[in-house]
Amino acid sequence: MKISPSILAADMLNMERDVQRMIDAGTDWLHVDIMDAHFVPNLSYSPALVAALHARFPELPLDVHLMMDNPEKYVDVFCDAGAAVLTIHAEIPGDPAQVLRDIRARGVMTGLSVKPGTSAEAIRDLLPLADMVLVMTVEPGFGGQKFNADMLDKMDDLRRMGYTGLLEADGGVSMKNAALLRAHGLDVAVMGTAMFRSADPKADMTAIHAL
Ligand code: DX5
Ligand code: ZN
Repeated sequence: MKISPSILAADMLNMERDVQRMIDAGTDWLHVDIMDAHFVPNLSYSPALVAALHARFPELPLDVHLMMDNPEKYVDVFCDAGAAVLTIHAEIPGDPAQVLRDIRARGVMTGLSVKPGTSAEAIRDLLPLADMVLVMTVEPGFGGQKFNADMLDKMDDLRRMGYTGLLEADGGVSMKNAALLRAHGLDVAVMGTAMFRSADPKADMTAIHAL
């Protein structure tokens, strides 16, 4: 299984040091949460941080999670900034299918995220446009929340519906539930608190990679 540490749990004033620690520990991707204070009740980073990370760590795939109402306005700016994966939410007010097509047209991997209350069935028609489905295992907005195990059923539903792309889980993912997630078909584990607060991220990443 792959790992995408969420920088929401990094020390903002020591971002370079903390990201380098993840690279040294063997990370696959880096997860960057963009929050707009509308789609979620929190504000986080701007595209400038994505560009700065990409300039400093050009080999590191940036897994950008847009928790925002109007991602269509920002597809180009995040693709230009260096996103390797650009994930939008199915629950946005606009047309998620068109946004996914726009991301694909830029040659960037598409991600489609679902909040806990959105079923697999609700995104059936969008699945052909998604290279990855990000199953939120907490209500989006904040790091450090408790993992919702009911979301494992949603992952099973997606596979039963014939979805063969990547599955990513985000929220409360830890060394305790990683094996269970893998058993339900997870490909990419987003880990904020669990990785940035780990005493030995290298050992933890080695264990996750072996799942
Ligand atoms: C939550 C974010 C997550 C968050 C995960 O809205 O999308 O990426 O940083 O943090 P942990 O792993 O601490 O639950
Ligand atoms: Zn996220």
